[in-house]
Amino acid sequence: MGKLTQRWLLPILYLTDNWISRAGLALVLTATVLWIFLTGASAASGYLGILQFVALPAAFFAGLLLIPAGMSRQRRKQAPGHALHLPEKIELNDPKVRRFLVFVAAATMTNLVIGGALTYETVQYMESNNFCGTACHVMGPEHLAFGAGSHAQVKCVDCHIGEGAGNAIRAKLNGTRQLLLIVSGGYSRPIPSPPHELKPAAETCENCHSRNHDYGERLWRRTSFDDNGGKLETALMLKLGGAEGKGIHGAHMGQGLRIEYQAADQKRERILAVQWSRGGKAEAYTAPDYAAGKVKAVLSRAMDCLDCHNRPAHEFVSPEREVDRLMAAGELPQTLPLFRKAALAALKADYPGASADAGISSKLLSYYQRKQPGIYWSRQAELKKAGAVLSALYQRNVFPAMNIAWGSYPQHTGHTDSPGCFRCHGEELKSTSTPGKTITQDCEACHKVLGVEERNLKAIQELGG
Ligand code: HEC
Ligand code: HEC
Ligand code: HEC
Ligand code: HEC
Ligand code: HEC
Repeated sequence: MGKLTQRWLLPILYLTDNWISRAGLALVLTATVLWIFLTGASAASGYLGILQFVALPAAFFAGLLLIPAGMSRQRRKQAPGHALHLPEKIELNDPKVRRFLVFVAAATMTNLVIGGALTYETVQYMESNNFCGTACHVMGPEHLAFGAGSHAQVKCVDCHIGEGAGNAIRAKLNGTRQLLLIVSGGYSRPIPSPPHELKPAAETCENCHSRNHDYGERLWRRTSFDDNGGKLETALMLKLGGAEGKGIHGAHMGQGLRIEYQAADQKRERILAVQWSRGGKAEAYTAPDYAAGKVKAVLSRAMDCLDCHNRPAHEFVSPEREVDRLMAAGELPQTLPLFRKAALAALKADYPGASADAGISSKLLSYYQRKQPGIYWSRQAELKKAGAVLSALYQRNVFPAMNIAWGSYPQHTGHTDSPGCFRCHGEELKSTSTPGKTITQDCEACHKVLGVEERNLKAIQELGG
């Protein structure tokens, strides 16, 4: 070893003349090397990400703490009475002391730079969709549904965590609590939908979509199929509106308007009472059993975008709608007799233990083998291809390990698959001031119905569809 190296290595030997400090130094070096080694790999897997951005920085800082801890323990052991003993004066003329101080300053600077980079990367990583959606496997269903939506560019934390340091800390604590629950297996399956942990829409949705935007009237249409593959059309003219308190948007989100409600459950599936006010005017609607004190409210909330658009980022849909959509898109066969019926039977069956992948295909095939042997033999290839499309569909929507079945997360923007608008609009909630008054259920208030499951819908053809 050259004399120069020896001189400069001396402080390290001096600092780590005990096993605790040496373990600390080893930890710091290993963490740094592994960290460099892993750079780039964490994109591939959420668990590698946890290792790189959570476990390694933790090891790095723990190592840094161990070095002085070991030194001070060693000092106390050597000093008489085991008391901490500091030199009375620091002799700066001694080159050894000078070298030691330069070394400590340089090491501290290096650690600050490395430590700062690690911390920064960790915070960045913990806010990434990769961390939220895949590191934490229980959120896999939301992440999958999310990748398919029109908000796939928005970060999880932009909707789930409020602005400011307080919210960030609360979210990290909450995340830690969730991590412990996952490790202990004590988390709830499925994960409950949490409107109270969401930012208010004013801080999220309204950053990109203006509440006053006038959407006017918009054609809404849906293609479905009968059992023989016959095409059916449903079409509405939705009165979305927005400006001046008009239409679906304006009636709830208009200027100076406030709607509050109480719900019997966190998912807001049963609404017990609604208070509406604008300027000096006000109206309240209540369910009779709530007014009589027979049911309790667990949630009180000011209505915003999320009370209709409750699945803006992770939409789960009904098997009927998905089969129709895929048939219309040509991804599932339209001309196989009884196909829709067979497909729905396969999608809605349980596949306990078995892999749904194989289960769905064989269910579809055996359906035809029993009911349509001719087709079973002549169109095997088509059936197998359809089986693969159906199992992919199933795996995007049903997660037995998380107790997520078809319909576990209903969507509130309509009233056909789940009560949606009719949670408030309907006969159940009654005005407390005007006897007999309810929130309107008049079809025409929300849309013109152009046709429901019709063959050759004229209105659509006239509109050029
Ligand atoms: C555009 C806003 C938005 C984004 C972006 C977003 N979420 Fe959500 N998330 C919501 C809303 C709203 C709910 C509440 C759903 C409800 O009330 O039915 C929710 C609910 C959830 C739930 C509770 C279970 C459920 O499905 O209702 C989980 C878990 C979740 N989100 C995870 C994620 C993850 C992971 C990401 C990123 C990959 C993400 N979210 C991105 C708005 C968002
Ligand atoms: C970062 C900007 C951004 C944020 C935040 C955002 N959106 Fe969007 N949203 C978009 C873009 C971009 C589109 C797709 C283009 C379009 O249709 O305008 C879109 C489309 C939509 C659509 C129509 C298409 C669809 O998928 O149904 C709805 C409804 C919608 N957003 C509701 C919401 C709601 C509710 C929130 C709050 C939870 C929200 N958005 C938050 C940017 C955003
Ligand atoms: C009373 C329920 C309700 C509320 C509250 C509501 N919306 Fe909507 N919104 C709807 C319905 C219904 C549609 C049409 C959905 C469809 O096409 O299936 C819609 C459509 C949209 C679209 C797509 C418009 C288009 O032209 O395709 C956007 C974007 C949107 N809403 C954003 C918002 C935002 C942002 C808020 C909050 C400021 C909000 N909405 C509040 C019910 C609501
Ligand atoms: C949380 C309760 C609630 C939900 C959910 C809700 N609304 Fe409303 N809606 C109201 C209240 C309250 C009014 C105003 C009633 C009044 O005039 O006293 C209203 C008014 C309206 C109006 C204006 C009616 C008129 O004749 O002026 C339309 C249109 C409307 N809602 C559409 C919808 C649609 C579409 C949905 C579902 C996507 C929906 N609402 C969901 C509470 C709700
Ligand atoms: C409070 C507003 C509101 C009222 C009242 C209302 N609807 Fe609707 N309806 C909607 C909205 C919003 C949609 C679009 C659903 C979606 O985006 O999934 C819809 C969709 C539909 C559809 C298409 C459903 C599908 O999935 O194919 C039909 C049919 C329909 N409504 C019939 C009616 C009839 C009939 C009435 C009167 C008894 C009525 N609606 C009352 C808001 C309303």
